[in-house]
Amino acid sequence: MGLHESMIVLALTLSCFLSSVCLAQERSFFSGNLSDSDTIVSSLGTFRFGFFAPVNSTSRYAGIWYSNIPVQTVIWVANKDKPINDSSGVISVSEDGNLVVTDGQRRVLWSTNISTQAPRANSTVAEVLDTGNLVLKDDNSETTLWESFRHPTDSWLPNMVVGTNARTAGENITITSWKSPSDPSPGSYTAALVLAAYPELFIMNKDNNNATVWRSGPWNGQMFNGLPDVDPGVIFLFRFTVNDDTNGSVTMSYANDSTLRYLYMDYRGSVIRRDWSEARRNWTVGLQVPASECDIYRRCGPFTTCNPRKTPPCSCIKGFRPRRLIEWNNGNWSGGCIRRTPLQCERQNNNGSADGFTRLRRMKLPDFAIRSEASEPDCLRTCLQTCSCIACAHGLGYGCMIWNGSLVDSQELPAGGMDLYIRLAHSEIKTPDRRPVIIGSSLAGGILVVAACGLLVRRLVMKRRARKKGRDAEQIFNRVEALAGDAESSENSDPKASINDVTITDVSGR
Ligand SMILES: *[C@@H]1O[C@H](CO)[C@@H](O)[C@H](O)[C@H]1NC(C)=O
Ligand SMILES: *[C@@H]1O[C@H](CO)[C@@H](O)[C@H](O)[C@H]1NC(C)=O
Ligand SMILES: *[C@@H]1O[C@H](CO)[C@@H](O)[C@H](O)[C@H]1NC(C)=O
Ligand SMILES: *[C@@H]1O[C@H](CO)[C@@H](O)[C@H](O)[C@H]1NC(C)=O
Ligand SMILES: *[C@@H]1O[C@H](CO)[C@@H](O)[C@H](O)[C@H]1NC(C)=O
Ligand SMILES: *[C@@H]1O[C@H](CO)[C@@H](O)[C@H](O)[C@H]1NC(C)=O
Ligand SMILES: *[C@@H]1O[C@H](CO)[C@@H](O)[C@H](O)[C@H]1NC(C)=O
Ligand SMILES: *[C@@H]1O[C@H](CO)[C@@H](O)[C@H](O)[C@H]1NC(C)=O
Ligand SMILES: *[C@@H]1O[C@H](CO)[C@@H](O)[C@H](O)[C@H]1NC(C)=O
Ligand SMILES: *[C@@H]1O[C@H](CO)[C@@H](O)[C@H](O)[C@H]1NC(C)=O
Ligand SMILES: *[C@@H]1O[C@H](CO)[C@@H](O)[C@H](O)[C@H]1NC(C)=O
Ligand SMILES: *[C@@H]1O[C@H](CO)[C@@H](O)[C@H](O)[C@H]1NC(C)=O
Repeated sequence: MGLHESMIVLALTLSCFLSSVCLAQERSFFSGNLSDSDTIVSSLGTFRFGFFAPVNSTSRYAGIWYSNIPVQTVIWVANKDKPINDSSGVISVSEDGNLVVTDGQRRVLWSTNISTQAPRANSTVAEVLDTGNLVLKDDNSETTLWESFRHPTDSWLPNMVVGTNARTAGENITITSWKSPSDPSPGSYTAALVLAAYPELFIMNKDNNNATVWRSGPWNGQMFNGLPDVDPGVIFLFRFTVNDDTNGSVTMSYANDSTLRYLYMDYRGSVIRRDWSEARRNWTVGLQVPASECDIYRRCGPFTTCNPRKTPPCSCIKGFRPRRLIEWNNGNWSGGCIRRTPLQCERQNNNGSADGFTRLRRMKLPDFAIRSEASEPDCLRTCLQTCSCIACAHGLGYGCMIWNGSLVDSQELPAGGMDLYIRLAHSEIKTPDRRPVIIGSSLAGGILVVAACGLLVRRLVMKRRARKKGRDAEQIFNRVEALAGDAESSENSDPKASINDVTITDVSGR
């Protein structure tokens, strides 16, 4: 027991001796039983733990809710699929040290179910913290035996661990929707932060083999690529802290630390961020996904992009055509699109010119990105050297990302997003009406390397300006923006590369 807690206990004990208001004191912990009418409250009064009945229901559940606000807001439930139909329920620390919920007939409806060696009811206490975490701890050794933050129901609270590293055999920590606003039993939807090649939020449908319903796009350390950049504050309110000491656990917090703000999964399968508005005396919705038709996973099938601001929203990526034209024209886009011209490595004897890329801008990146070892400046070139690579992208925090096989669930965002480079046969890029931009010959006539965007490009442009070398080149830089060539370094680094130029067309350039 910490000094702070010891003092609280002392104060409580003293007040019991000095007056008769002992029972009126609100505790944040207990070690015996809580009956239906008892609650404990966190030390600053933010969260309360005890029995509640959901809106429009008479069933009783043990759970945690926001204590200081007039709208019932439950963030965690114990006996979620085993309600108690009267007020006979008891929450207790059992003889083996587990926290259990029992009904009037002493049947165990829920238990923390930790294996304990010796009976230790007399040294185990349950405490609700001001973060909303309910912890069961051994008071003698001060060890945490169990905590509700590791077993979330439908809510993610700030400072909760929302992921453990899959690379160290971690499991996905999921939140699960309620069945309805009146029934906290597990509904159809779950959400998890999946730590694969890149951390990413997923919503899945449990009743459909855990099929993905929505994905956020990959996390680059600051934001999810696919979350609309309309209100930058929305995105940067998330902050995931990867902590290697605890096996790569990922914690969620918010840039603006406020406890009256959390994420939960609505019974209809949306993930919603709620912010408490003192002015309205109600929650306001800060962010809700999925939001648009294009947010629905694979809305348009493979090799398409989806843009909810267009009618129809689905279109084939340049260089691809509908797989089944009649279905496609009838608005059944699930078949997606197929490549019009085989890539060079797919053609006999590799004849013809080298493949190139078309750039799609402001993209929510497709699913199944692979983290490449290639450096960012080498990203496109590395892709061209591997026949299976069909697209790539690079950016701060992501490094070089490549895609093999298929491209699904990409979306054109109104703002933000990333440049996505789609590999195409040379002939597809030279479409005259698209005004191809061919760089290579104009740049010192050497081998060309496509370099990274952002600062690096600016630096290269500045360097070239300083050298006053090649006005043409500078114009091309300005037009292509995200691409840069550096003849000298590439000559040294890869003398026998068969790629003598990288042809890029800018689809959005009129
Ligand atoms: C409280 O717990 C003890 C020990 O488990 C039990 O004997 C007692 O009957 C419980 N009290 C209530 C009101 O359930
Ligand atoms: C509760 O029931 C009332 C009356 O049937 C209904 O109008 C209201 O929408 C219900 N509330 C919820 C949260 O289901
Ligand atoms: C509560 O449920 C039990 C069985 O789970 C049943 O025997 C009992 O009659 C119910 N009580 C009420 C008041 O509905
Ligand atoms: C408790 O844990 C044991 C194994 O540790 C498991 O067999 C049992 O099903 C669990 N019970 C509940 C209610 O989760
Ligand atoms: C805990 O309770 C058991 C029996 O209920 C007793 O034998 C033991 O001494 C107690 N331990 C402590 C530390 O009080
Ligand atoms: C986590 O979820 C992802 C996405 O559904 C799945 O591919 C992966 O296998 C899951 N990982 C574990 C350890 O269950
Ligand atoms: C869905 O995922 C959950 C948690 O990862 C897992 O327990 C369950 O078996 C999966 N269901 C199916 C049908 O794959
Ligand atoms: C990390 O994971 C390994 C294997 O799962 C486990 O043995 C180890 O105790 C974990 N370490 C911590 C600090 O959780
Ligand atoms: C944090 O949020 C509060 C309430 O929403 C707001 O008044 C305050 O300005 C915010 N602070 C920062 C640094 O954004
Ligand atoms: C609180 O806001 C929700 C929508 O976010 C609305 O449905 C509800 O009626 C509001 N409640 C009050 C008391 O204004
Ligand atoms: C769309 O086409 C696919 C494949 O041909 C078919 O299985 C599916 O039923 C069609 N969907 C609709 C809504 O017609
Ligand atoms: C590749 O060779 C085949 C057969 O020799 C020929 O038909 C085709 O036009 C060539 N393709 C290109 C792009 O040169």
